[in-house]
Amino acid sequence: MSHEINNIAVLTSGGDAPGMNAAIRAVTRTALYHGRRVYGVYRGYEGMIENDLVELNTASVKHILAQGGTFLKSARSQEFRTPEGRAKAAQNLKDRDIDALVVIGGDGSFTGALKLADEHGIKVIGVPGTIDNDLYGTDFTIGYDTATNTVIESVDKIRDTASSHNRLFLVEVMGRDTGYIAASTGLATGALSIILPEKKATYEELFADLKSAQAHKKTSNIIMVAEGNHLGDIFEIAAAVRNEFPEMDVKVTTLGHTQRGGSPTTNDRVLASVLGHYAVKGLLEGKQKVMAGMINQKVVFTSLENAISKTTELDEEMLTIAKILAT
Ligand code: F6P
Repeated sequence: MSHEINNIAVLTSGGDAPGMNAAIRAVTRTALYHGRRVYGVYRGYEGMIENDLVELNTASVKHILAQGGTFLKSARSQEFRTPEGRAKAAQNLKDRDIDALVVIGGDGSFTGALKLADEHGIKVIGVPGTIDNDLYGTDFTIGYDTATNTVIESVDKIRDTASSHNRLFLVEVMGRDTGYIAASTGLATGALSIILPEKKATYEELFADLKSAQAHKKTSNIIMVAEGNHLGDIFEIAAAVRNEFPEMDVKVTTLGHTQRGGSPTTNDRVLASVLGHYAVKGLLEGKQKVMAGMINQKVVFTSLENAISKTTELDEEMLTIAKILAT
């Protein structure tokens, strides 16, 4: 192992995701195991600029494995987008002899990490933490499994009442730019239609699905809607459906930030623990400007540039299967 790394910092940034705490714990304990000092940065890059850092020891991360959210807290920093903000942040690291940083977050967080590396020579490594599952270089991001389990738990309950009252429910799930949550939970809950940002849905298709459901004498239905879809706001979609099918009893449920909370599932705890561990190992082996991900159950390092700019295509077959099975 190389001895080029002195002290290591860890932060969480962007939207929080269940399993972030497990990743912080893994980073901290792996770094301590290898004899490095480790610092937690509060509130992401915002805290780095404001010098809001704390040295972590093994007890600092006890009993956080099962907790949702991030005890280091998270933020989206405007000041860090400026060269002056980044210079201030880098200086606060250097003052503590911190030369390496583990960033747990999504693409916005990794963009900031790359700038810190290029402008100030900080060795950065990424750990994919976002419920959206929208990073290239890993089959799953930390938080996605928990979020999708939260969604299906709610939608199963919605299904009970929808069925009792012969209602149509439009359920909005998160996914500003991508529809992984909507696609997988739509399949998992038997949704009649799944409306995603990736596919330009049309009202003709949606209405055809509803007509087909009527033809099959389906009395209750779920339409899964990702927030970043092209048809628009879920209430507008509901209004359009009511207009076309005045006989239908249409309800809207927005699951919102419930999807971001809760105790992480086994899959997310394992993923976070392994990737947090490998992020530190990677740094000590001289890797930088990469993200640690898991592909086919193997840890893989992908350049942060690719993790941010490339996309893993959504599995269209999942949508076809969902359609066949729901009608
Ligand atoms: O965590 C990612 C995400 O959940 C997106 O799907 C969503 O649009 C966004 O965060 C909302 O986050 P916030 O309310 O924190 O801005």
